[in-house]
Amino acid sequence: MPILSLGQILFTEEEIQAKVKELGNLISRDYQDKDLLLVNVLKGGVVFLADLLRYINIPVSIDFMAISGYGATTTKAGVVKIVKDLDESIEGRNILIVEDIIDTGLTLGYLIKNLISRNPANLKICTLLDRSIRRIVDIVIDYKGFELPDVFVVGYGLDYQQLYRNLPYIAVLEISEEVNFETIKEM
Ligand code: IMP
Ligand code: MG
Repeated sequence: MPILSLGQILFTEEEIQAKVKELGNLISRDYQDKDLLLVNVLKGGVVFLADLLRYINIPVSIDFMAISGYGATTTKAGVVKIVKDLDESIEGRNILIVEDIIDTGLTLGYLIKNLISRNPANLKICTLLDRSIRRIVDIVIDYKGFELPDVFVVGYGLDYQQLYRNLPYIAVLEISEEVNFETIKEM
């Protein structure tokens, strides 16, 4: 088993809060006089959503989805399962997906297709982190916090084996040996 430890802090609490406030302001401006529904993907995105929500100063609703990973070992890359679906109908509504991180884009690519089939008025994407260097599925990001280098990170909602989500900052998870990213994500 590889040995893991917390490494460099990439984004401090202050930097994250400043960025999330900036995004909240942009969203408030862009969705003025519109019915806005934030769709959050559990669980990694909840911390970001909770902060973003409080920086939005127009009427806004939230709803949640949970999906199971596509699995590092499966041959059907990009096939994910909806474990918990939205409570509300999104037909004719302005939907903004709020994500913690977009990595390969496989998860979100599936989700976008699924939600588009429900006929929202429009569908946009907001992510705190973007690791575009690993992208497989092309995703148009409308609101983006930070670009991420090719390292695995934890904190501010992001986990390793369900831990570290409570850190108010985002740090690199140091791994003692070369481990495939997909393996870590599935752990
Ligand atoms: P994708 O389908 O490859 O874009 O993977 C996205 C999902 O993988 C995210 O929603 C996270 O749950 C997880 N993930 C990807 N990178 C990291 C990371 O660096 N730390 C923690 N979780 C991650
Ligand atoms: Mg995860």
